[in-house]
Amino acid sequence: MQKYDLFNGKVDSLLHGADYNPDQWLHRPDILKKDIELMKKANTNVMSVGIFSWAALEPEEGKYNFEWLDQVIDKLYENGINVILATPSGARPDWLAAKYPEVLRVNADRSKNLFGERHNHCYTSPVYREKIAELNKKLAERYGKHPGVIMWHVSNEYGGECHCDLCQADFRSWLKAKYGDLESLNQAWWSNFWSHTYTDWENIESPAPQGMQSNHGLALDWKRFVTEQTIDFYKNEIESLREITPEIPITTNLMYRYDGLDYNKFAEEVDVISWDSYPSWHSDHESDSNRAADVAFMHDYFRSLKNGKSFLLMESTPSKTNWQPVAKLKRPGIHKLSSLQAVAHGSDSVQYFQWRKSRGGFEKFHGAVVDHVGHSKTRVFRDVQDLGAVLKKLDQIRGTSVEAEVAVIFDTENRWAINEASGPRQDKKNYVETCVKHYQPFWKKGISVDVIDQTKDFSKYKLIVAPMLYMLKEGTADRLKEFVKNGGRVVSTYWSGIVNETDLCFEGGFPGQLKELFGIWSEELDVLYDGDSNEVQFKKENQLNLEGKYQAEIFCDLIHPQGAEILAEYKSDFYAGRAALTVNNYSRGKAYYVASRNEEEFVDEFYYKLIDDLELNRVLDIELPSGVTAQKRSDGQKEYIFLMNFSDQKQKLDLKNNYQSLISGQKLSEIGLAAYGVDVLIKA
Ligand code: GAL
Repeated sequence: MQKYDLFNGKVDSLLHGADYNPDQWLHRPDILKKDIELMKKANTNVMSVGIFSWAALEPEEGKYNFEWLDQVIDKLYENGINVILATPSGARPDWLAAKYPEVLRVNADRSKNLFGERHNHCYTSPVYREKIAELNKKLAERYGKHPGVIMWHVSNEYGGECHCDLCQADFRSWLKAKYGDLESLNQAWWSNFWSHTYTDWENIESPAPQGMQSNHGLALDWKRFVTEQTIDFYKNEIESLREITPEIPITTNLMYRYDGLDYNKFAEEVDVISWDSYPSWHSDHESDSNRAADVAFMHDYFRSLKNGKSFLLMESTPSKTNWQPVAKLKRPGIHKLSSLQAVAHGSDSVQYFQWRKSRGGFEKFHGAVVDHVGHSKTRVFRDVQDLGAVLKKLDQIRGTSVEAEVAVIFDTENRWAINEASGPRQDKKNYVETCVKHYQPFWKKGISVDVIDQTKDFSKYKLIVAPMLYMLKEGTADRLKEFVKNGGRVVSTYWSGIVNETDLCFEGGFPGQLKELFGIWSEELDVLYDGDSNEVQFKKENQLNLEGKYQAEIFCDLIHPQGAEILAEYKSDFYAGRAALTVNNYSRGKAYYVASRNEEEFVDEFYYKLIDDLELNRVLDIELPSGVTAQKRSDGQKEYIFLMNFSDQKQKLDLKNNYQSLISGQKLSEIGLAAYGVDVLIKA
């Protein structure tokens, strides 16, 4: 068990704070003064400052103005509030765009942006790189030694792609370095299809709606290039920060389900993972507990990016957003519950966007700790204040870790390839949702899970769940085999082992190099209309001892067992009686192949059985009612148990042991959780 120290000894509490934009209020010293008073009242101890401050810091090219920031950082520090200092590259001043149009992004359709908006610069542009590097250096020199500055927040939510000539040229160089010659590239991309063979490097262009869209090898390489180019831009941003302030850790805030970048690659470059979480609670199409499981999956994914190191919840809304089509207010309890959910999964902070609502601009109706009314007598402010008081009682949890025996493989390159592919059910591939569905049974039982990509080490787990592992990277099949040989269990599904890293189909039958491990051959894949279904029935006396019939939908893989044992069969259509679920005893382990996309009950029952068989550690050895889950952090000695009720019903639980609540201080062996209630327990 690890105990992490994200801030090199500078912080000894969980962080609680917000994005703070004082540069919008420089003409209102009364507001800035009031902010500090309210921050203390709200029990906050950190502010992320300067995220979009380029125009305030460098109003004219080469003319800097740091005085306002000096005062803000000093004042925050004097009042016990730490600063996460941002580099302001997320949005640019007008003079920069006017004088150097190359900084403006070119879209996939080759239209060039005008000045405006944010997160839309060219990552290749030498001018943008040079200008931001100059400014970042000045920030590092001026604030690097400030005792209040605990972390660098580099840019904001890096994303998108630029298709300008500079980017095209770098892309071609990147391809040359990767493939060496055009023949290898053409082979890897299968580009003689439709006569698309490239005869000159200069003819290669990034994908475009009016140009090449159907070469999947090109599309995948372009996405890889975009990730690398963005990282390269980031490296340029941090060069002086690393040099001048080596002891200050660096993060950049990542986004929910964002697929434009391979975050696993980014994780290697940042010191600390942070992410921005904006779930829409209380929706009309999904229960809050399903929503919670989805958020839990993301928290586990972000924690796993740096192999379990605690992370930061960099942004969340204290009330609602202004950009979701319908953003309902959080019902009482949800604020504390969803904030502590992040901590339960390994976050050492709860931070918001934003501290104070802007008077104007796009986000003037986005939730904030301080509303336009300007005082603290609001429901949202009280929620924030209460949460701050709770976090103070949980400080000892900072840096503790989450140990998982199960990993779900959720792989970005695989996701790209699945989404790019034409077929087999365009609108219902749902890779992310499928991964979440296979994660959810563990969440329901209160079992910790890591969410990893296929290149990570498998050896520490008992069970690897790899839904829709369409793209097999070099070495993955061998590593999975090794894992199972050593006694591990692996589960995979339909549409696995189909292509290699440049999207070329495996020859010799699917699932490619996984055929031997799963002991099957997949001959064909049937797809169903939305209203259609087949049924999957467990065979009598199957080795899982499961029984009953379940609905299969959308995907039905028609497989031939080649050594594997059939556990369940399809019930209807021309493939009635054929294998729908198999297990292959492979050396000391087992490999399960789930051939169809099945209803939730099937998924739950199947994994519950594996959970029992493998005696996977549950946080609490009791049955959890629907909507209630438990998560655990530990420092190896003490265990911190988070009990969370995502249902709108009161729930009573017999804990079967004696605990003490870190929130109320009460000793208890049974607990009544209010609707959306949460508690944090230690063994008494
Ligand atoms: C985030 C962004 C913030 C703010 C927030 C609103 O994606 O980083 O700057 O715009 O969304 O929800």
